[in-house]
Amino acid sequence: MTGADRLPVSPRAVTFEPMTAEAAQSLGEALAQIDPWARYDYTGKTLAAFLAGEEPGAQRFQIIVDRVLAGAIVIRSNWLRGPYLQFLGILPAFHRQGVGRSALLWFERGSEAGGARNLWVVASDFNGGAQAFYERHGFARVGIIDGLVTEGAAEILFRKRLRIG
Ligand SMILES: CC(C)(COP(=O)(O)OP(=O)(O)OC[C@H]1O[C@@H](n2cnc3c(N)ncnc32)[C@H](O)[C@@H]1OP(=O)(O)O)[C@@H](O)C(=O)NCCC(=O)NCCS
Repeated sequence: MTGADRLPVSPRAVTFEPMTAEAAQSLGEALAQIDPWARYDYTGKTLAAFLAGEEPGAQRFQIIVDRVLAGAIVIRSNWLRGPYLQFLGILPAFHRQGVGRSALLWFERGSEAGGARNLWVVASDFNGGAQAFYERHGFARVGIIDGLVTEGAAEILFRKRLRIG
């Protein structure tokens, strides 16, 4: 997967570019204000540090819509016969405009090109919107992981089987 692939989303264009320190700072501050991160008490500083991190096998990208910063996606490659979508956050001003959908398509196409058999992601049990979003795009629930992030909450593990392989 390359950092500057383009996916046309009529009438807008969505691009995925390597994260910069400035984008990580801005995204971290904004996304810490919304669930699931607000519910888990992530601070803007913690999220910004995560998004700015450099880690082999876990690429961080900023999502750009018509040249405007719109979100972040982090992909952990080679998880279970396919990559794990570790982080997807779209800024509220861009919700329900197809940006998340573009990000999933880009993730799926890049993973297929790399020979993956599966896509993986988790969503918190209280995050009904994200669960609906992943199910809408072909992910199926395969398990519940209690207390993964904190006691009293669970993460739902979703899998999408790819046709190749
Ligand atoms: C979940 C999220 C990534 C979806 O991104 P988005 O750009 O708003 O979603 P899209 O516009 O591409 O939605 C595509 C379809 O998914 C479904 N969907 C998306 N958000 C939904 C929601 N909150 N509730 C129900 N269905 C939803 C709908 O079917 C939607 O199509 P429609 O708008 O024509 O009805 C985004 O809302 C987000 O970043 N939320 C906060 C962080 C988060 O929950 N991240 C994911 C888990 S870590």
